[in-house]
Amino acid sequence: MGMVLSIVNQKGGVGKTTMAQALAREFAKTYKVLLIDFDGQATLTELIDLNNNFDEKYIQDYMKSDSIVKIFERETIEPLNITGMLKDENGKTIVPINELHFIPSPGNIMVSAAESVSGGKDMLLNKYLQKVKNEYDYIIIDALPSVSTLFRNVLLASDALIVTIQTKTNAIAGANGFLQVLDDVLGDYEKTYKHLFILPTMYNKQRRDDKDTLAEIMSSYMQSLKTYKSIGAITTTLLEEIPDRTVFSNAQAVRYFLQDYIEGFDTGKRDILLLLENIAKTVTEKLRGDN
Ligand SMILES: Nc1ncnc2c1ncn2[C@@H]1O[C@H](COP(=O)(O)OP(=O)(O)O)[C@@H](O)[C@H]1O
Ligand SMILES: [Mg+2]
Repeated sequence: MGMVLSIVNQKGGVGKTTMAQALAREFAKTYKVLLIDFDGQATLTELIDLNNNFDEKYIQDYMKSDSIVKIFERETIEPLNITGMLKDENGKTIVPINELHFIPSPGNIMVSAAESVSGGKDMLLNKYLQKVKNEYDYIIIDALPSVSTLFRNVLLASDALIVTIQTKTNAIAGANGFLQVLDDVLGDYEKTYKHLFILPTMYNKQRRDDKDTLAEIMSSYMQSLKTYKSIGAITTTLLEEIPDRTVFSNAQAVRYFLQDYIEGFDTGKRDILLLLENIAKTVTEKLRGDN
């Protein structure tokens, strides 16, 4: 049974999309993975660049027939198999791949589609995923950065969350606001998670601000999680921080998945690959351990 893991934070620009893409690729080395762009901004969909990897007409038709907005009409959709996109003409990759499927975002139309549902609108992503969960080991959702119907759909469809926090002074206050929202939703729906992961991102060890913020996340922030009514009962793990490095945006600029970019063009950055391997390993171990 697939495990639904969502990458969340109320703020934009804190590395959610980047980490969703990199972690999905990491898991897809060995597992069957479904990656979902559940943000009307469609950043991940742009980065995956379907038009350059598939026949344009095929993608146009696919976006119509299997758009995620259909789940709000209680219809089912077929994710797009993008495994082949990562292989060369000979069907090979440097970075291994098992299977990676993708559900693109159709853009802001998602917002109105979700809001216009009458009754039970917060559970529709969950209902859809229950139908396809058996076909995957991990389902990774790149969530939108706002509290809304779409966002509650993500919270209620997930088995575990990864909360990304940028290591900048005001990020902790923002993250606290987010925790309160999360706690309220969990309370309202009597929902809980197998695990909650905190992932510091864009850490620049040369900067005082970043160092102080990381230290605060490690101590008082992790402690403060225990004071929330619903969140307090969830096992929480602080993941190793993701450094601020240009390789992340360099890979995105040429529309490559991070791992394939580093192995193909920038092998000097293999330390980042090791870091991602370790994070994925921690996440899988914790999730299996809690089962
Ligand atoms: N660890 C990192 N180091 C450097 N730049 C990063 C890192 N993570 C993300 N970025 C860059 O920061 C910007 C915002 O990241 P993104 O993942 O789109 O955030 P979000 O999805 O939270 O809005 C992007 O341009 C991305 O390339
Ligand atoms: Mg994003």
